[in-house]
Order: sequence, then structure tokens, then C-alpha cells
Amino acid sequence: MSPSLTVRRIAADQGAVLRELRTASLREAPYAFGETLEDALSVDAATFDVTAADHAVSKAATSFILYTEGHPAGLIEAHFEDSAARRAFVGELWVAPAVRHLRGGELLVNTASEWLAGAGAEEIYAWVADANRNAMRFYERLGFGPTGEHARTARWPDQSESLLVRHVQRASQASSQ
Ligand SMILES: CC(C)(COP(=O)(O)OP(=O)(O)OC[C@H]1O[C@@H](n2cnc3c(N)ncnc32)[C@H](O)[C@@H]1OP(=O)(O)O)[C@@H](O)C(=O)NCCC(=O)NCCS
Repeated sequence: MSPSLTVRRIAADQGAVLRELRTASLREAPYAFGETLEDALSVDAATFDVTAADHAVSKAATSFILYTEGHPAGLIEAHFEDSAARRAFVGELWVAPAVRHLRGGELLVNTASEWLAGAGAEEIYAWVADANRNAMRFYERLGFGPTGEHARTARWPDQSESLLVRHVQRASQASSQ
């Protein structure tokens, strides 16, 4: 039987869980993120406590955690850009290999998108490394498409990443189609 997957917004006291998931993702999928495992391990553990406390209540940035049978098994971050355009982003997406292909990634992206849409976002953006074909396919299947914006990856200058976007489907629009 497939394990049941649930997603909940991070709680203020989950700094250690955030650190555990973030380091697990960087260890398992270093190609997917701009940061390295060494970066995350060199940060004071208290920094993750501060982030968790902020993400539990902030209106500008948050994290959602995926659980399988009550155990943390995935992560996504969502935030509004600190600029006049105030674009809404999802990032740092990771699902533990043992529970992949069970729609945990989809659940994380959709939950984070709903949170951003609830705060006014009409488009959801995500940067994806061009070499990460799996993530590119994953986002495309969820309705994300190219914006045409590309960038060199800050950490890996020989690699590029593309900005994808998905338009928010309002409940009223969805029911009238
Ligand atoms: C990308 C990642 C988060 C996907 O997590 P997941 O839990 O396996 O995601 P899902 O189960 O929702 O989707 C997995 C598969 O179903 C497909 N899928 C998802 N939603 C779908 C839908 N509505 N209809 C059809 N197919 C769908 C995906 O394209 C993917 O297909 P494939 O792996 O066979 O090519 C996971 O592979 C991961 O953590 N990878 C390493 C880190 C990474 O690359 N993160 C992204 C950084 S940009």
C-alpha cells in the first residue's frame, strides 16, 4: 500500500527538521540547488531556528514540509521577491527518494502555490537548472512553462538555469471551464 502523504506549513520550533531536510536534499541532489552541503553545514544551527520561526508566521516567505506516515520526507520554500514587482517564487523543492513518484512533489508545489495565491500572487515562478531534466519535466507536467529568462548558476558558472512560470488558476475560473 502507498504511504499516505501530507503537507503542513513549518512550525516555529522546527528549525532542526528544516536543517535535517535541507542537508539531506543537498547531500542527495547537489546538482539541483545553488547552495552546497558545505554551505548549509557551515551555517550555525540556530540560523535554521530563526528561519523556522519566521517562516511559521511570515506573510512574505514560508516553508512547507511533506510527511509520510508522520515522518518528514520533503520540503519546499515559497516567497515573494523583495522588489516592486513582488514576484512569487517556489524553490528548494526536494522529496526523499523513498517516496518519489507518489505525487508528494506535486502536493508540495500546489500547497506552496495556494499559499502564494492566497497572498495575492497571480503567477508562480521557479528557477530550474537546465541540466536537471527530471525537475524540468516535473514542473512542465504541473503546467509551468518557460518565461524566456535564463541565468548562469551563481555557484556553478558553467551551468545555466531557466525561469519557469505557472499562472494561478482561480477557483472561479476553473469551475467556469
Ligand atoms: C523533482 C522531485 C521533487 C519530484 O518529486 P516527486 O514526489 O517524485 O514528484 P511527483 O510524484 O509529484 O511527480 C513525479 C512524476 O510524476 C509526474 N507527474 C507529476 N504530476 C503529474 C500529473 N498531474 N500528471 C502526470 N504526471 C505527473 C512527474 O512529471 C514525474 O514524472 P517522472 O518522474 O516519471 O518523469 C523529486 O524528484 C526530487 O526531489 N528531485 C531531486 C531534487 C530536485 O531536483 N528538486 C527540484 C529543484 S528545481
